[in-house]
Amino acid sequence: MTPEELLVSAQTVAENAYAPYSGFRVGAVIVADDGTTYPGVNWENAAYPSGTCAEASAISAAVTAGRTRLITVAAACIDAAAEEESFPCGQCRQRLHEFGVREVIVAKPDGTAGTYALADLLPHGFKLEK
Ligand code: THU
Repeated sequence: MTPEELLVSAQTVAENAYAPYSGFRVGAVIVADDGTTYPGVNWENAAYPSGTCAEASAISAAVTAGRTRLITVAAACIDAAAEEESFPCGQCRQRLHEFGVREVIVAKPDGTAGTYALADLLPHGFKLEK
């Protein structure tokens, strides 16, 4: 899939987000190393910290299917102001780093797909090396 197609796919799946508290619906689509794609959405909870980000949901879907080598993520916040890109949060950058994600696709202010290196968004991601 092209970056534009992945972005549209993330925007489409974001319609399924469960975000009654923030009103901020997010969708994510992850591409694994075999080209398979895995969607995820954010879902919230009345006990606020119990909710989950869309990127984390997509990672859960990929890992559940046995895919732990991940390449690309497209993330879309369909309720966000269009003037600024909405990048994955810091915690999700670290989550994506764990599984080798290299590319992050988000909507640019003009609506087209922008591709960024995860290494630029998360330099020096944490690794557990003893
Ligand atoms: N959210 C995501 O799904 N991904 C991010 O990278 C940042 C935030 C969700 C969590 C919450 O449901 C809503 O956006 C507002 O923070």
